[in-house]
Amino acid sequence: MQLKDVNLTAEQVKELCTKYMIETYERFPFIACRAEGMYLYDENDNAYLDFYGGIAVNNAGNCNPKVVEAVRNQVGEIMHTFNYPYTIPQALLSELICKSTGMDKVLYQQSGTEANEAMIKIARKYGVDNFGPNKFHIITATNSFHGRTYGALSATGQTNNALQLGFKPMLEGFTYVEYNNLKAFEDAVTENTIAIMLEPCQGEGGVIPATQEFMKGIRKLCDDKGLLLLLDEVQTGWCRTGAIMDYMNYDIKPDCVSMAKGMGGGVPIGGMICTAKLAATFGGGTHGSTYAGNPVCCAASYAQINELLDRDLAGNAKVMGEYFSNELRKLPNVKEVRNAGLLVGVVFEGDKAVDIKHACLDRHLLVTAIGNSIIRMVPPLIATKEDCDKCVDILKEAVLAVM
Ligand SMILES: Cc1ncc(COP(=O)(O)O)c(C=O)c1O
Repeated sequence: MQLKDVNLTAEQVKELCTKYMIETYERFPFIACRAEGMYLYDENDNAYLDFYGGIAVNNAGNCNPKVVEAVRNQVGEIMHTFNYPYTIPQALLSELICKSTGMDKVLYQQSGTEANEAMIKIARKYGVDNFGPNKFHIITATNSFHGRTYGALSATGQTNNALQLGFKPMLEGFTYVEYNNLKAFEDAVTENTIAIMLEPCQGEGGVIPATQEFMKGIRKLCDDKGLLLLLDEVQTGWCRTGAIMDYMNYDIKPDCVSMAKGMGGGVPIGGMICTAKLAATFGGGTHGSTYAGNPVCCAASYAQINELLDRDLAGNAKVMGEYFSNELRKLPNVKEVRNAGLLVGVVFEGDKAVDIKHACLDRHLLVTAIGNSIIRMVPPLIATKEDCDKCVDILKEAVLAVM
């Protein structure tokens, strides 16, 4: 929809949003009117270099033509039917997901937080069904982020900020332990623990990758104690970190993985993949959702994942992630650059991250800030050296302007 189609000015669009929407986000001061590849265009057709990728969603590029075509085709066939009949997009997508991740079964949802709800629920039911009513406790990491619905929010190890304040009490049965500290996880296991739930790289928590030693140690701890390893790959999954799924970078196999964002290329789809043994926990009536497995979303996701795989965008994320991070280290006032493929966090000296973000915006570069000192970038995985160089140049100007 363009302004000319609705006969509104840009100011009127902003006024309507401000007047009628509950605003929980600080908005960019423009209207997103179209997008293509690495760029987003405003109401005056100004181009913005997109290094936030709809927050790690547009992995195969904004409005990837194959995804757009898949949506257009499916929308005219069946838009929605609920999960009683089988559908062709579900069949094709499920086979593709299971074969490319090495997991046995998939269950669809609409978002990352719902994917985590499903993962938490299946783990708890598995524990209670097999080991008794108290076996439902899950250990997660401090500083983690798993979503905004109550189960996922309860799993989130940020208990003293806007995420949880005012919303307590959280669901019982979660313990939070220091990330990358294997001993702390070992010590936290009790007779009631059924699972450990982790992001393989903490994204919202400031781009902190798990160490190899930690991840492998956690897998062994789970094996030794009979626990499930649940990985939240909502942000890291689908080629973002240089492998199809981030757990492949650690050469481990989790019991269950949640995913969303990059698997849909812009349509609301999420899901949970797991082993056949765990999948058997959910039978008729145990879990469900009206839109989960929607044919338009599944058709889009099938096109998106094929694009990611056919073009080896995981490989590009790995190579570009290294190149980009090294270039970012040359910027002024940089304390540290952390990355897992093209999930990149730049830690700056001082507390000017939000000002840097705004200065980037003024120069038509889109990035996000985490806290006061980190700029996080999750660009489409089609990013080239030239795109990364351009981003670094603009960031440099922005940093010099504010610091
Ligand atoms: C690791 C992780 N888990 C869960 C979520 C929640 O996903 P959604 O916003 O789709 O509910 C996010 C979102 O940023 C995330 O990064």
